Amino acid sequence: MKNKFKKIIKKKNKSKIVCLTAYSKNIASILDNHCDIILVGDSLGSVLYNFNSIRSVTLNNMIEHSKSVRLGVQKSLMIVDMPYNTYRNSVEALKNAKLIIKKTKCDGLKLEGGKKINKIIKHLVENKIPVMGHLGLLPQSEKGKFKAKGKKATERNKILSDAKTLESSGVFAIVLECIEKSLAREITSLVKIPTIGIGSSINCDGQVLVTDDLLGLNPINLKFLKKYSNLRKVINTAVLKFKKEVKKNKFPTKRYSY
Ligand code: KIV
Repeated sequence: MKNKFKKIIKKKNKSKIVCLTAYSKNIASILDNHCDIILVGDSLGSVLYNFNSIRSVTLNNMIEHSKSVRLGVQKSLMIVDMPYNTYRNSVEALKNAKLIIKKTKCDGLKLEGGKKINKIIKHLVENKIPVMGHLGLLPQSEKGKFKAKGKKATERNKILSDAKTLESSGVFAIVLECIEKSLAREITSLVKIPTIGIGSSINCDGQVLVTDDLLGLNPINLKFLKKYSNLRKVINTAVLKFKKEVKKNKFPTKRYSY
């Protein structure tokens, strides 16, 4: 395993891991100064394209956005989501994983699911593809509301056992999405690899959010989502100013003209 991954794993129980999503170069280059991991998430399907389902995201969508993100990432680990229907079996998964890595020069890939895709993850890891797991709420598999996972005993036991399975398959970290806080704590102490939470409480080794959400660019509200800025307002103010100056013939002045 490359040093970059070892560095992330070593952070467990020492220092929290910071992860955010990026879909393009300019945002990625800002995040790169602050993040351990930059994720090109298939959330771009809803955030950028308004797809009804994440399942509509294509391999090409992921590759093109990742190529842009790559231009902005130098220090952080760059991980790309494998979209729906691109890892239905080991052969398909390896072929598509190699293609994404070749085209985007990303460091690793994220796949959603536990035991069900264990054979596929093992096959990728055996072929030297670094994999990040994803448990709890799985947007590629379920439609509907963001709801806490692991409140019922059967669901709880399944997620716990999935986490153990993913660890033994060789994933270097696991995203825990919308997992009830005591379960997040249990998983985090059970596995030796880092857990990265989204809507899964403070009881994880790191946190991830969708950058458009935390910046207040994406007009959605979710319980676990803290908006650290209101970029819609900031952009609106700037555009309004530009519009007024254009209308009043105040832009461009001499300074901005050849
Ligand atoms: O697609 C995505 O952005 C994700 C994160 C929210 C973890 O999977």
